Amino acid sequence: MSRTVLSLPGDGIGPEVMAQVRRVLDRIGGFQIEEGLVGGASYDAHGTPLTDDTMAAALKADAVLLGAVGGPKWDTLPFEVKPERGLLRLRKDMELFANLRPALVFDALAQASTLKTDLVRGLDLMIVRELTGGVYFGEPRGIEDIGGGERRGVNTQVYTTSEIVRVARVAFDLARKRDSRVCSVEKANVMESGLLWREEVQKLRDAEYTDVALSHMYADNCAMQLVRAPKQFDVIVTDNLFGDLLSDCAAMLTGSLGMLPSASLGAADANGRRKALYEPVHGSAPDIAGQDKANPMACILSASMMLRYSFDMAAEADLVDRACQDVLNAGIRTGDIVEPGMTPVGTAAMGDAVLAAMDRLSGG
Ligand code: NAD
Ligand code: IPM
Ligand code: MN
Repeated sequence: MSRTVLSLPGDGIGPEVMAQVRRVLDRIGGFQIEEGLVGGASYDAHGTPLTDDTMAAALKADAVLLGAVGGPKWDTLPFEVKPERGLLRLRKDMELFANLRPALVFDALAQASTLKTDLVRGLDLMIVRELTGGVYFGEPRGIEDIGGGERRGVNTQVYTTSEIVRVARVAFDLARKRDSRVCSVEKANVMESGLLWREEVQKLRDAEYTDVALSHMYADNCAMQLVRAPKQFDVIVTDNLFGDLLSDCAAMLTGSLGMLPSASLGAADANGRRKALYEPVHGSAPDIAGQDKANPMACILSASMMLRYSFDMAAEADLVDRACQDVLNAGIRTGDIVEPGMTPVGTAAMGDAVLAAMDRLSGG
């Protein structure tokens, strides 16, 4: 089986965390890894956050790994060439409509959460975020002069039934392999697109997934419930913008944004293979970039999701996950998850520790 991976380290801490992922993949072996530019790095080299060549390479690869994009250096660029546009184009052109953002609390980190340990210990929830629709891509959009010195900024929240149904299906299928519970989140009380969302998700459940328990929740309440009693959730399915906000919120339950991986998946082809991009949920962290301080675990765990979802390498994915767990158990921590009495290690040292744990666990 071909295992071509396009690696796009991007900006800020992206290249630092991706360097550790490369070491992990090299240790496992069998990948053809190509490297490309995205975000500010691509803008600096080519005047665009994603070239057509890189887009073509992404469409051809068996999987894409991305570090992070963006940073203060590029914040004042015109909208069309901002680093973030590169990532959004990848998602849109690869048709990656389902973004899986698991929030899993490692036992060793239950104390590191800003919430009470009992509330988060054993937490295992999955947020399925719609990724190619909604207000992120809806038309009309733009900033226009409306006379009298006034300007108007416009974005449009829009969803079609097929966009809702295909992402809901991913959530129901995942739930069947977990605790068979889906909570669908929108604001059907104030938005027509939210009402359509609720109706279509319910219809799909009643037609094809009667074995899965479905509940509905307004997004504001969901944000509150996530910090009040997060273990009530199994799978959450929600739109692009609410999913963005709720997954950052869920990240803090696990101790740090530096721990949260994600997988963005497209439709399955005739062989059951999906286009896929894997990236940490965090951004380029300009405040700690270039200082060997970033936690590489979110990116390493994203690579582990790649092994599982794109390459059917469950044993290798388990090895990587267990290695990360071992490292945390041993009290080896970057600054974002360090606890009193521990000395934080750097990004590369965390990579060293994960590799050593992989060797130990595989008897090497
Ligand atoms: P951010 O996720 O970059 O950082 C938020 C906070 O979390 C910072 O204090 C940062 O130091 C910390 N943090 C994040 N990742 C960490 C890690 N691996 N280890 C330790 N600490 C970590 O969010 P932001 O500051 O709002 O955004 C910075 C830039 O990143 C912006 O340009 C934004 O558009 C971009 N961004 C990109 C992505 C992406 O590429 N997918 C995601 C979010 C934000
Ligand atoms: C994320 C980020 C992106 C988003 C940005 C960088 C475009 O916040 O991946 O969560 O808003 O989707
Ligand atoms: Mn985000």
